[in-house]
Amino acid sequence: MGARIIAIANQKGGVGKTTTVISLAACLGELGRKVLVVDLDPQANATSGLGLPIKEGGSLYEAMLSGVLKEGVIRETTVNNVHVVPSELDLAGAEIEIARQDSYLHCASRVLKPLVARSDYDFVLVDCPPSLGILTMNGLTASDGMVVPMQCEYYALEGLSVITSLLNRVRKSGANPNLQLDGILMTMFDSRTNLSEQVVAEVREHFGEKVYRTVIPRNVRLSEAPSYGQPITLYDSFSPGARAYRFFAREFAKSQASITPAIPS
Ligand SMILES: Nc1ncnc2c1ncn2[C@@H]1O[C@H](COP(=O)(O)OP(=O)(O)O)[C@@H](O)[C@H]1O
Ligand SMILES: [Mg+2]
Repeated sequence: MGARIIAIANQKGGVGKTTTVISLAACLGELGRKVLVVDLDPQANATSGLGLPIKEGGSLYEAMLSGVLKEGVIRETTVNNVHVVPSELDLAGAEIEIARQDSYLHCASRVLKPLVARSDYDFVLVDCPPSLGILTMNGLTASDGMVVPMQCEYYALEGLSVITSLLNRVRKSGANPNLQLDGILMTMFDSRTNLSEQVVAEVREHFGEKVYRTVIPRNVRLSEAPSYGQPITLYDSFSPGARAYRFFAREFAKSQASITPAIPS
């Protein structure tokens, strides 16, 4: 049996999806876990944030269209135990091409599932674009679970129902009836304001145990790291951001270990 595939998803941009993918991967890598990051966002922020150049033809898109993952698409990074399937810029057209395929929601799934089954990764993290478009739907269709990063701001509360409806949409469409909500990660917590506290409290009230105990603080070092092509663990190993994501990685790994796989329907 292969690793669980986990989509890091939220239809909103700027909530910390990519930061979470990069940081969580790096911290799991530190713990000796083997991680594959799949960058499904044409913005390719996870790719460049892990220090890889963005190359034309070096992403999952070709495989999504052909059904065949070419040798060399999976790349090693300078981060311990972290590999990447990169993304590339300028792929606005990819969605249209994918939409033309038969069972177009399964294009990522049909490549990733066999890949994961024959490799020894412990976790596969899929960075989704900030939309509910075809790429995100493909990511969610290929995934066993979904982690939703949520920014500690007022508008987060409005997004709560969207998460539930997204999950239901993917399940009921038949594309992936077994998709689970693994957890909600509160990000960019600002300890100087009451608002952050209030938002976390309200999200916990709504989703209870689904909200991870770890809360990621707002930390400028986290926002600087991508321009150096480094995860926070390498850029500033002792920063509050690095500490928080290390904490999260332990919580995440533990919670993943206790998930019983859904019985395929
Ligand atoms: N905890 C944090 N503290 C400070 N800045 C953050 C934090 N998390 C993310 N950022 C910054 O906020 C912006 C949006 O984050 P990002 O992870 O790219 O979001 P998304 O992938 O959801 O669009 C980026 O510039 C990122 O560096
Ligand atoms: Mg992103």
